[in-house]
Amino acid sequence: MNAVAAPAVDWERVRADFPLLTRDVHGKPLVYLDSANTAQKPSQVIDAVDDFYRRHNANVSRAVHALGAEATEAYEGARRKLASFLNVRADELVLCSGTTFAINLVAYSWALPRLKPGDAIVLTRMEHHANIVPWQIVAQRTGAVIKVAELDERGDLDLDALYALLTPDVKLLGLAHVSNVLGTVNPVRDICREARRRGIVTVVDGSQAAPHRALDVASIGCDFYAITGHKMVGPTGTGALWGRRELLQSMPPFLGGGEMIREVRFEGTVYNDAPHRFEAGTPNIAGFVGLGAAVDYLSSVGMAAIEAREKELLAHATEALSAIDGLRIFGQAREKAAVISFLVDGAHAHDLATLLDLEGVAVRSGQHCAHPLMHFFGVAATCRASFAFYNTHAEVDALAAAIHKVRRLLA
Ligand SMILES: Cc1ncc(COP(=O)(O)O)c(C=O)c1O
Repeated sequence: MNAVAAPAVDWERVRADFPLLTRDVHGKPLVYLDSANTAQKPSQVIDAVDDFYRRHNANVSRAVHALGAEATEAYEGARRKLASFLNVRADELVLCSGTTFAINLVAYSWALPRLKPGDAIVLTRMEHHANIVPWQIVAQRTGAVIKVAELDERGDLDLDALYALLTPDVKLLGLAHVSNVLGTVNPVRDICREARRRGIVTVVDGSQAAPHRALDVASIGCDFYAITGHKMVGPTGTGALWGRRELLQSMPPFLGGGEMIREVRFEGTVYNDAPHRFEAGTPNIAGFVGLGAAVDYLSSVGMAAIEAREKELLAHATEALSAIDGLRIFGQAREKAAVISFLVDGAHAHDLATLLDLEGVAVRSGQHCAHPLMHFFGVAATCRASFAFYNTHAEVDALAAAIHKVRRLLA
């Protein structure tokens, strides 16, 4: 049988779905290259949130009236959409405010009650602070220690060194699927298999993976997987934690309140099952309606097409930036997402980003919530251009031209 070619995507039409991308900044057309920080939103997502508030707004699971049922269905429908997007069971998906919340939930509910002096946690050098600080809090409170898996100069993990760290005292391994600074795509499936063979629980930070590649979380073999909705063209304040059912069911609640209980008496409370046990209080209902629309949107464009498009933009940008004298790129991993961290000789990252902004080009500068990685490279900060499928090749050229101009200004 002949293979059916994927239909070509009309990227100009896709871009036209993002109203903000038509605006000017400082009198120049906006070139938005900060999607690893937060992604722009298509009209389909904005309209879904608007429609919820205009026509369906009510609280979830608390009222028998029609609007209450509609709101509950919309919220639970979003959970089902997200579960199918990630290829996991909906009843294993805790909806929460984002990756930061998701990892803290594992830290407080899984790790704090279990870890003790003599235990160890392994993290990688490239983690975002959201996958470092919660474990430091756990370590301080339990007496466990943290060990760090190092990388090479290109930004790839040293896998032999990582596996050598996975000794019997290690109870948990936390690692990013994709680095927000270097773009390194870690071989999470291999790493989780090694950890599992040793009985180590794995927490994968999928913040920078979920927006950019088709995910089959069930096949990764991890125990927990965290995502954040606002990087997936969804609203801020949305995200999720996937966890293996038996682990979620064994964990005490993180927060107490309404919705997470089955029965409350002053003598004691019976908690709801997971995932509702971890969703105390009124959730960000409209936000999750928007996130449901976002995963519909990403699926309609096609994750394979998105990944291929971003690969092309990355290749173009890497070539254009590598040709600039005095520009150093941080992160040249074997497999890399569309993120380029860079510095230009003689320019501070913040000055560079400020001058690029005056040209309409939005890049992030700073430490990218990854201080240990900055220490590794011996720099105070970098600039980071991060691309999404709605960016264009003309925008890559605009970035390169703006850097050339800024270099001349600073010379
Ligand atoms: C790799 C990584 N992990 C975690 C986070 C935190 O996500 P949030 O602030 O949405 O919880 C980010 C956001 O920049 C990230 O890039």
